[in-house]
Amino acid sequence: MQDQNAKFGAVLRQHAHTTRLFGVDFIPIGRGVAPSAAPAVAKAPQPPASAGEAPAVPSKTAKRTASGRSGASGDPAAALQKIRELYELDAPHASFVTEFQNIVFGEGSPSARLMFVGEAPGAEEDKTGRPFVGRAGQLLDKMIEAMGLKREEVYIANVLKTRPPKNATPTTEESRLCAPYLYAQIGAIRPEFIVTLGLPSTRLLLDSTEAMARLRGRWHEFAVPEALPPKLAEVISPLGGVGHKVRVMPTYHPAFLLRQYTTENRAKVWADLRMVVDEMG
Ligand code: URA
Repeated sequence: MQDQNAKFGAVLRQHAHTTRLFGVDFIPIGRGVAPSAAPAVAKAPQPPASAGEAPAVPSKTAKRTASGRSGASGDPAAALQKIRELYELDAPHASFVTEFQNIVFGEGSPSARLMFVGEAPGAEEDKTGRPFVGRAGQLLDKMIEAMGLKREEVYIANVLKTRPPKNATPTTEESRLCAPYLYAQIGAIRPEFIVTLGLPSTRLLLDSTEAMARLRGRWHEFAVPEALPPKLAEVISPLGGVGHKVRVMPTYHPAFLLRQYTTENRAKVWADLRMVVDEMG
């Protein structure tokens, strides 16, 4: 009983912490608490966590089991570097209109269990060469933290690696031209989960034209295509990246959330992220 109370208290503290971070009233589903006991949207409990208390959600970045990585050899960080060089050499963005100072390749842990894929760099990203560092990025950071993770534990990439003029939404053709490099990044990292942020990355990875409202809130699967350009396939083959299957959770883009910052939209995004947290264990 004491054990149960301690667990529930920990969940409540996590809830209060996440509420402060993300501005949504919810109770994350923690280990040992049945999903039915944790309503998707609930009133904020009290009291909030005091400093120094252990987080309720256990580390989600522990090394994968042998089965998760079996058969793989090679260095994902070196593979990512090679993919970056190939991207710079091939410059797929030279075939469409783009306004950029810096290529924004992606960043994070080369062995991340979780990857986020956005659409394209904006002004801040273009200036710094880093993904999601502007306003949308700050919200993404809060989302990651609310999941009980650190930004450096996940990997963040975009469909396009260069800034579109006036932050235009990537066209299907632009996405198609840049897709093999994103697929190769996924094949090098071999994450277990991908959260696609917004429609361009969702539609690309799910090969779908459905609306976000129909795609979000449930799991999909993406497999790194066998038919990659040979140069990219060569880089990820030693890692077992070709054909690698990932579970995909689509959700709204943080920039959309910032434009329509309603409780309802935030609750939807949190519900999507919570499904990921739950699966990550
Ligand atoms: N929006 C994106 O989709 N990606 C970024 O890196 C920044 C904003």
